[in-house]
Amino acid sequence: MKKKLKVLVLFDGTSPTTVDQDFTKELKTKDWKTEADVTAALGSVGHTAEHLAIYDDVDLVRQKLETFAPDILFNLVEQFRNNPGFDQNIVSFFEMQGLAFTGCGSTGLTLCKHKGISKKILHYHGIHVPHFVVIPRGQRITRPKQLKFPILVKPVKEEASYGISQASLVGTDEQFRERVNFIHEKYNSDAIAEEYIDGRELYVSLIGNIRLTVLPIRELVFREVPPNEPKIATFKAKWDDEYRKRWGLENQFAEDLDPQLVTDIEETCKRIYRLLTIDGYARIDLRLAPDNKVYFIEANPNPILASDEDFALSAGKAGLPYAELIDRIVRQGMKTVRD
Ligand SMILES: Nc1ncnc2c1ncn2[C@@H]1O[C@H](COP(=O)(O)OP(=O)(O)O)[C@@H](O)[C@H]1O
Ligand SMILES: [Mg+2]
Repeated sequence: MKKKLKVLVLFDGTSPTTVDQDFTKELKTKDWKTEADVTAALGSVGHTAEHLAIYDDVDLVRQKLETFAPDILFNLVEQFRNNPGFDQNIVSFFEMQGLAFTGCGSTGLTLCKHKGISKKILHYHGIHVPHFVVIPRGQRITRPKQLKFPILVKPVKEEASYGISQASLVGTDEQFRERVNFIHEKYNSDAIAEEYIDGRELYVSLIGNIRLTVLPIRELVFREVPPNEPKIATFKAKWDDEYRKRWGLENQFAEDLDPQLVTDIEETCKRIYRLLTIDGYARIDLRLAPDNKVYFIEANPNPILASDEDFALSAGKAGLPYAELIDRIVRQGMKTVRD
């Protein structure tokens, strides 16, 4: 039998927290589903799980390490002082102390977060990425001539489609300037402008460090969106149930993909995972163009682990039930070499 472990589940506090703060009540709400699912799964496979939420005080981690002495941290932290820009810094702090933790290390998090840097690395290695330009705040906003409309303008580092709506897709230089300016000012963020890739929206989940397992491919389908309309996983498309219903948006397993194409996608995603130095587990967002060319859109290390989200559903389909998936992520975290 495998050794049972003491696992400290770390998650985000949205306001200052204390070391022994009890989140049982929050864990029963929809917003905390991932934290609750992971905690329950850890218990169900025999581990001892306690939790700690971090707002801006990392000394709480030190205090908790002293009293609980966990074997490993289950890292569900995505922000620091409500700023999602700092998730890799928290992980750096674990790395410096030689602590075992789950999921991706700081370098992978940093490379993937920046939608421009990740694309530069992958393009260098011959992976298809949309043509793009990064426009920092304070820089004059002009469109390079090679960048062709329609263009999608996004914050360069956000997640969860923050700052992405139908208005993000622009067709003229005036709209381009307006939207980049909007991202600079309203999102207080540098912008990335990418050529819009028409095609199917695929999500490929992987787990592993040296040896990688690619899980069955998911797809976001836009059933009620007319064929010539743009199909974008906007903020509403991801999180607004009414909106999803109205436009027939559904996440499902990708159907009717040629087996050879599936193999190609799997190989491409493994390369992406390694090139971006991801470890742990990740979901890679792709676009499959009508000519079957596969474009990289984004890599998400430490994707949402809720039991009803794409990553866990893909694992389940591959014969890895939820509790086993969580256990595997923990066991893998114990073995990961961090430097
Ligand atoms: N270049 C692009 N071409 C087509 N669709 C895109 C492109 N970039 C982003 N999208 C759409 O916008 C969604 C969100 O973009 P993404 O870069 O993954 O941001 P986030 O990190 O917020 O998820 C994608 O899932 C896709 O539907
Ligand atoms: Mg995405």
